[in-house]
Amino acid sequence: MSEPIVALDGVWRVYDMGRLQVVALRDIDLRVAPGEFVAVVGPSGSGKSTLMHIVGCLDRPTSGEYRLASTPVGTLDDDGLARFRSRTIGFVFQSYNLLARTTALDNVAAPLLYQGVSRRERLARARASLERLGLGDRLDHTPAELSGGQQQRVAIARALVTDPALILADEPTGNLASDQGAEVLALFKELHQAGRTIVLITHDHDVAAAADRQVHLRDGGIVDRPLAA
Ligand SMILES: Nc1ncnc2c1ncn2[C@@H]1O[C@H](COP(=O)(O)OP(=O)(O)O)[C@@H](O)[C@H]1O
Ligand SMILES: [Mg+2]
Repeated sequence: MSEPIVALDGVWRVYDMGRLQVVALRDIDLRVAPGEFVAVVGPSGSGKSTLMHIVGCLDRPTSGEYRLASTPVGTLDDDGLARFRSRTIGFVFQSYNLLARTTALDNVAAPLLYQGVSRRERLARARASLERLGLGDRLDHTPAELSGGQQQRVAIARALVTDPALILADEPTGNLASDQGAEVLALFKELHQAGRTIVLITHDHDVAAAADRQVHLRDGGIVDRPLAA
């Protein structure tokens, strides 16, 4: 059996608000195996963003253990964690988070800068990643010159350019019209079929249905079933 990409054991995240403590995650056990496509689904306030931040190494558990690609992230200092995160995870956000006034090519090449890849190779890999996503004729376009669906495809090309162990997507279709959202979901399914490991976070049950496994969050805990609508 291969090691899981994501392994959370007894993870809690408690926000300390002075007199008040907000338990955002309670005793989360979660494993994602290599090649799995898992959707984390739950209503507003259920802890999805908190879980995304912990899985994405943007935040740390209050207690419990997190191993990402077999590395116990609790043993890394903040700089080490940031480096490990940029090597291991490709992020896709609801609002694309592209650099404005920067071409698609340079947006996609940017993550390689932090890995010490030469400019020539950065541009070659960025071009190849954009071509794979059908954007070979949009290399010199800035975000404002692209549709929402195209911008999200640029963001996905950027997430893939480092060949990360995990793609972590937070409401990736949340800002898209339904046809463009469907295209982006079809793209995630293709990436999954090509062997990518994907965790997709959403409040939308139709979006979650694109994954091959769903994890339901409710009041910070994992539940077997969502409440009836
Ligand atoms: N930075 C924070 N400080 C205090 N409480 C927070 C913070 N972020 C989230 N919370 C609380 O934690 C709970 C889970 O929030 P969140 O993870 O944002 O859920 P979701 O993304 O599912 O809407 C909510 O009760 C929210 O109010
Ligand atoms: Mg949220």
